[in-house]
Amino acid sequence: SESKLWGGRFTGGLDPLMQAFNDSLSFDKRMWRQDLRGSRAYATALVGAGLLTEAEASELHRGLDLVAAEWQSGSFVPAPSDEDIHTANERRLKELVGAPAAKLHTGRSRNDQVATDIRLWLMDYLSDELLPQLRRLINTLVSRAESETGVLMPGYTHLQRAQPVRWSHWLLSYASMLRRDCQRLADCRARTAVCPLGSGALAGNPFGVDRQALADALGFTSGVTWNSLDAVADRDFASEFQFAAAMIGNHLSRLAEDLILFCSKEFGFVTLSDAYSTGSSLMPQKKNADSLELIRGKTGRLCGHLVSLLMVQKSLPSAFNKDLQEDKEGLFDSADTVSAVVRIADGVVATLTVHPEACAGALSCDMLATDLAYYLVRRGVPFREAHAASGRCVALAEAKACQLHQLTFEDFRTVSEKFGEDVTQLWDFETSVEQYGAFGGTALESVRQQVAAFRRWLGDE
Ligand code: ARG
Repeated sequence: SESKLWGGRFTGGLDPLMQAFNDSLSFDKRMWRQDLRGSRAYATALVGAGLLTEAEASELHRGLDLVAAEWQSGSFVPAPSDEDIHTANERRLKELVGAPAAKLHTGRSRNDQVATDIRLWLMDYLSDELLPQLRRLINTLVSRAESETGVLMPGYTHLQRAQPVRWSHWLLSYASMLRRDCQRLADCRARTAVCPLGSGALAGNPFGVDRQALADALGFTSGVTWNSLDAVADRDFASEFQFAAAMIGNHLSRLAEDLILFCSKEFGFVTLSDAYSTGSSLMPQKKNADSLELIRGKTGRLCGHLVSLLMVQKSLPSAFNKDLQEDKEGLFDSADTVSAVVRIADGVVATLTVHPEACAGALSCDMLATDLAYYLVRRGVPFREAHAASGRCVALAEAKACQLHQLTFEDFRTVSEKFGEDVTQLWDFETSVEQYGAFGGTALESVRQQVAAFRRWLGDE
């Protein structure tokens, strides 16, 4: 235990199983950049506090760059005493620059250090990876919606054919969900961008480091944490991210489920590109939507990680407890998983083929029974009465074993004298969708307005 950074009060060594149990380097080394950045800023802060000379700080900065270069090139060699990324980096720094390294941790604790590192890591990940990936997917959905407005398909509720809608409208429904996810993540990032460095182990910093300067140097744009006891144990930001990631999974699992149905022979609305499909080792005819099934399946992991992190925090006593080391594996796995899910969904949507005739072929006139009621409403019949009259027309068609549009004018008149001759002209799906012109509806103009709204939103962020 001599070699351990906390070894002073110990005489016995760790049980090997405990050593492995306690280790987090295997996964928190992923934050090496953020850990070194935090140390660089902290060295500068110690100069400001009069605890390091400029010369010592530049020695530390030089050493930190050397450690970074080792991680970058893959030549960093962990020592058995390295329990985590913080101890590993500090140990190596000491080997490289000697004496000044022993001053770096003055007033700092791994507790404020790890909280700083995770926040920086998540901020980088959101800005550099997930948010651009999500925006690309939204852009793909919007571009398809813009160029395929002519395709009509059944809209479903309860998976029963309900009313005709534009394929573009369906695409934009998912773009809408993902836009909320972007907003949620931007929000989460803003609450993540608060600097906990300078909180020490739990009580604060006794050397008067300039915490605002630390926050500025590290890109914590939302300022500094207000309370050190809270700051070292606060993982709200990670929990919020886990929720947002699970929500993205939920949204894309619904997209996946729709498309799995749509690419079945029974629907035949779309064909997935070969790039996102797989075959069967037994049945030569099979083309399976494995990409979409995996998106659906991986959502289970995302939801699981959210619940794990909430459970880790539940009933924790005040300030840091080692339980919190369990925050990171789920965080990294959710980040990797949700990024893969978003990128695969983007590829699937960008490359699938839609079959307009099959989509239109699935429309049937019973889906216009609502229009029949609206026809009467436009002739002054209260909606509830109109709904009942339309229902009687549906029953009449059933009794005559024909389709709704095959009823004659005389048939309609037996149900209501409000029907005019033009009721027999009602059976046009294009005319039907064009009724829904209020913003947010499925009429062509409304869909175009939605596209324009998305384009503005994508442009101005
Ligand atoms: N490896 C720890 C973690 O992942 C760092 C903090 C350890 N602090 C402590 N006092 N043991 O959370």
